[in-house]
Amino acid sequence: MSVPPPLLEVEGLTKRWPGTTAAAVADVSLAVASGERVALVGASGSGKTTLARLILRLIEPDRGSIRFAGRDLLALRGEALRRVRADLQLVFQDPLAALDPRRRVGAQVADPLRAHGLVPRTGRSAAVTALFERVGLDPALARRYPHELSGGQRQRVAIARALASRPRLLVLDEPVAQLDVSVKAQILDLLERLRREEGLAWLLITHDLGAARAASDRILVMAEGRIVEEGPTAAVLAAPRAPATRALVAAELRLPPPPERPDQPLTAPSVSPRTM
Ligand SMILES: Nc1ncnc2c1ncn2[C@@H]1O[C@H](COP(=O)(O)OP(=O)(O)O)[C@@H](O)[C@H]1O
Ligand SMILES: [Mg+2]
Repeated sequence: MSVPPPLLEVEGLTKRWPGTTAAAVADVSLAVASGERVALVGASGSGKTTLARLILRLIEPDRGSIRFAGRDLLALRGEALRRVRADLQLVFQDPLAALDPRRRVGAQVADPLRAHGLVPRTGRSAAVTALFERVGLDPALARRYPHELSGGQRQRVAIARALASRPRLLVLDEPVAQLDVSVKAQILDLLERLRREEGLAWLLITHDLGAARAASDRILVMAEGRIVEEGPTAAVLAAPRAPATRALVAAELRLPPPPERPDQPLTAPSVSPRTM
């Protein structure tokens, strides 16, 4: 009986930014299985975002290979690459930066439906409504612009857009880092519900060990571009071995909990919400 290949398989991935001496990502190998929840943690500057961007093929590696569902991602071009991209989606830390400030959020959630030809034009409005409902947003908010939503609502929009193409793997780069404690928990709960319903796998990048505990079964610890420790999340965090893991655990114990602030839009809505 043949074992199915991991969904994502990265080997020897290396990237040095021009003008720097040390590689931001140095000989990284990792795998994520279908439906698996993997966390990637590490101090600021350890190379997590660079690794995410490499996996998404937003930047090209100097060396190494990336296989997705058994296919060589770095060899794909054109239509074949576009199709794999539908299966592999990224959610950023800052949804405000990821969203176009001048376009209504509903239209932005519809973008992947159009780009991947998933829903005929006449069905797009209903599909956007369904996506808003899936992520717990009032579909009337589709008429708003990004700045008219709260941070938590914006991250839900970004998640709705990522889900639109029915991906198999989400790369989540600090998806709750800018959210307040209660909103953070709501977004993690939402992600977990969606993962179970859709059979998603994820690579959750975070410097928040609480988020890693809540939302991963396996953890990878990154330091200076390398994976320095890996294993079951609870076991690794209970008995960290690598100095980088110990430092993260120690820092967590010293940090006071962040204050709670209400999750509000940046400004009062300037247009009244209309239904689609
Ligand atoms: N666009 C870039 N150009 C040059 N250096 C970069 C760029 N992006 C990141 N780096 C450098 O690469 C290293 C890793 O950064 P990053 O991947 O953003 O780490 P993390 O997400 O873990 O904080 C850092 O030293 C950072 O300064
Ligand atoms: Mg980062």
